[in-house]
Amino acid sequence: MHVQVGIAGAGPAGLMLARLLHLQGISSVILESRTRPYVETRIRAGLLEQGSVDLINETGMGERMRREYLPHDGLEFIFGGKRHRFDMQELTGRRVYIYGQQEAVKDMIAVNLAAGVPIHFEAKVSAFEGLDTGKPSIRYMHEGSEKTLTCDYIAGCDGFHGVSRATFAAGDRRDYDRVYPFGWLGILVDAPPSHHELLYCHHERGFALFTLRSSTVSRLYLQVEPDEDEKNWSDDRIWNELRVRLGNIDGLKVSEGKITQRTMVEMRSYVTEPMRHERLFLAGDSAHIVPPTGAKGMNLAISDVYVLSKAFTAFYKTGTTALFDAYSDTCLRRVWGAQHFSWWMTSMLHTMPDASAFDLKRQIAELQTVCGSRAGRKLLAENYAGLPIEM
Ligand code: FAD
Ligand code: DHB
Repeated sequence: MHVQVGIAGAGPAGLMLARLLHLQGISSVILESRTRPYVETRIRAGLLEQGSVDLINETGMGERMRREYLPHDGLEFIFGGKRHRFDMQELTGRRVYIYGQQEAVKDMIAVNLAAGVPIHFEAKVSAFEGLDTGKPSIRYMHEGSEKTLTCDYIAGCDGFHGVSRATFAAGDRRDYDRVYPFGWLGILVDAPPSHHELLYCHHERGFALFTLRSSTVSRLYLQVEPDEDEKNWSDDRIWNELRVRLGNIDGLKVSEGKITQRTMVEMRSYVTEPMRHERLFLAGDSAHIVPPTGAKGMNLAISDVYVLSKAFTAFYKTGTTALFDAYSDTCLRRVWGAQHFSWWMTSMLHTMPDASAFDLKRQIAELQTVCGSRAGRKLLAENYAGLPIEM
């Protein structure tokens, strides 16, 4: 079988790319190693920037999202026993939206399949061949046998643990990596949110984030040891810790309920450069990951493939390869902006395991500097609401 663009991975990057290409009349096939129910229920990110929401709408995949998402005009930091609100709408004129990643993925799968874009589930990519020829191919296992897909180009949208990045020869890429000395324990709870906006809590015992999925479902995260066994966290221990970290603040109370899901999240910053090798383009988590504190991972995946789709469109319409050549640099400007913001949010709000009394005082002073002036609040809100797709 031959297709113009072969796509490894049916996450937000692969699914959005397939849709953008389809709308331009460019053929693609998605190969996804997991089952459809697995990818449709994998709990991950929850916060979409305006740019991502606009693109999902413009590509005709936002019908359910528009009914179910929760627009947010602000967020709060909590530290030193006080609440500090960022009025994002007033500071930037923009808002963000809560809509679970797995819901967005479900919508994107349905729209792609209805349009006739092939998505092969349980199709595990093992290798790419002929990347430096005019006819690269993807080898994959599907329905018990090894198959080959030939294409003009390949998009490696197979996430951080996929195979795409590893196909770059060692000398051809440079990796930038930082692993943080803590992780997050994420829980999903059948209970109304503690507050209608997101609460980012700095506490000397560790960070806590109160977010939500709907008026009846809360999503909560706690800073824990990096290799923590979630079994060490009984329900009682989780609720006690959340109460302590939220603090005793007028009007705010931890809303408790049945914990329906738990996940450990690794905290890591990682970039590989360049994001292109011959006829293979990396997009999303396969090229870069951020610690989730800034809620940028899924948004970066979507902006990468927007840039990539423009390059494919220009090539198939006019034969120009100029946007292919610019792809990596164009994406990396935004990626590094998001890396800086995610690192900043992470280091400002978390407690380092070896933090001294001085470190904690300095951290509080930084939080006060940011929250205490309009300039500080604006800088944070502009990054939180999202950097422009092309910078
Ligand atoms: P993925 O969503 O990882 O998609 C890659 C796809 O490729 C997967 O479906 C995978 O099954 C498939 N695949 C892998 N290997 C192969 C192969 N060999 N062959 C075929 N298919 C393959 N971001 C936030 O902003 N906020 C959060 O709270 C947040 N929480 C997270 C929690 C976890 C546990 C993780 C892992 C990530 C989280 N992220 C969060 C990051 C965000 O979810 C990612 O940035 C986003 O999923 C990236 O999309 P992607 O399409 O690039 O990669
Ligand atoms: C969510 C996760 C984040 O890391 C974040 O900063 C905001 C929201 C979420 O899962 O809702």
